[in-house]
Amino acid sequence: AERTFIAIKPDGVQRKLIGEIVGRFEKKGFKLVGCKLLQPSRKLAEKHYAEHKGKPFYEGLLDFITSGPVFAMVWEGKEVVSTARSLIGLTDPLKSPMNTIRGDFGISVGRNIIHGSDSVESGKREINLWFAKNEIVKSGVTIEKWIYEN
Ligand code: GTP
Ligand code: MG
Repeated sequence: AERTFIAIKPDGVQRKLIGEIVGRFEKKGFKLVGCKLLQPSRKLAEKHYAEHKGKPFYEGLLDFITSGPVFAMVWEGKEVVSTARSLIGLTDPLKSPMNTIRGDFGISVGRNIIHGSDSVESGKREINLWFAKNEIVKSGVTIEKWIYEN
């Protein structure tokens, strides 16, 4: 099944949005197969945001993402990568529709609460970067028949 990497950034953790955000993914029907709270190292943050190296906001982004605990997760389900991006909203919270996570809880681009992989390929790369193989469960809850027709 498809998997995506989702991380609640330090602002989301400090603002006590972990439960709210996990709840939205759970209620949609996706399956949580891994999670942990950690303060990422500079090295991990650099690897995670490598595509943004050299951009004006890059150093500030690294400072921010390493500034406190991050709640890292792996979610699984049909089309979870693109659907998670829909649940999250747009990069700029002010342009993000209501009923999306960033639209409901954010104001600033640099404090946009949550990260979600932007493609299946990125998802694989990010899951491997943030999680060891044995930190991801094989099969968790078995309510598939109530979520999927086949
Ligand atoms: P992520 O899920 O965090 O990867 O966000 P995204 O995919 O919606 O945006 P993108 O990958 O383009 O940028 C990564 C992160 O860098 C964003 O979530 C923002 O926090 C930050 N960022 C992007 N563009 C800007 C910008 O123009 N200014 C600032 N301050 N931060 C930015
Ligand atoms: Mg991105």
